[in-house]
Amino acid sequence: MTENTLSRRDFLNIAWGAAGALALVETGGVVLSFFSPRVVEGEFGGVIDAGAADTFAVGSVTPFTQGRFYLVRMPDGGFLALYRKCTHLGCVVPWNPAEGRFVCPCHASAFEIDGQVINPPAPRPLDRFAVTIVDGIVRVDTGTPIQRDRTSPDDLVYAEVAP
Ligand code: FES
Repeated sequence: MTENTLSRRDFLNIAWGAAGALALVETGGVVLSFFSPRVVEGEFGGVIDAGAADTFAVGSVTPFTQGRFYLVRMPDGGFLALYRKCTHLGCVVPWNPAEGRFVCPCHASAFEIDGQVINPPAPRPLDRFAVTIVDGIVRVDTGTPIQRDRTSPDDLVYAEVAP
């Protein structure tokens, strides 16, 4: 064997070393992706920009499918973001404009426009998300559903009126 010839043992050592380094890099990538934030602004779990407050009619219910909520503008002008997930067993609850209420297709729970239960078996009102209105823009934080035992006027958020 000459000095420039790679022995079988050296070749295998290099090959195993390279394979080990590659496996380490891949494992590092998986670990990094596990710990990186999964919530993207504008998607469910993050803060969603719903648009200008004055574009929502009083008494309207606007679905935000990607955000999994309804933006409700109550008759007095207040805003409320309702999680579309039924508080009974979690079915998606559609808004029924003809009846003016939310009706769950799974077990017929019904909810008022503010999420209050009007027909069980749902045990509590629809959960809501925090709403903020800054410079006339409505933003909904879908990170944490807020459970309620009852609905309240304090749940509503109002746009500032220009002086
Ligand atoms: S899941 Fe909605 S009423 Fe049962």
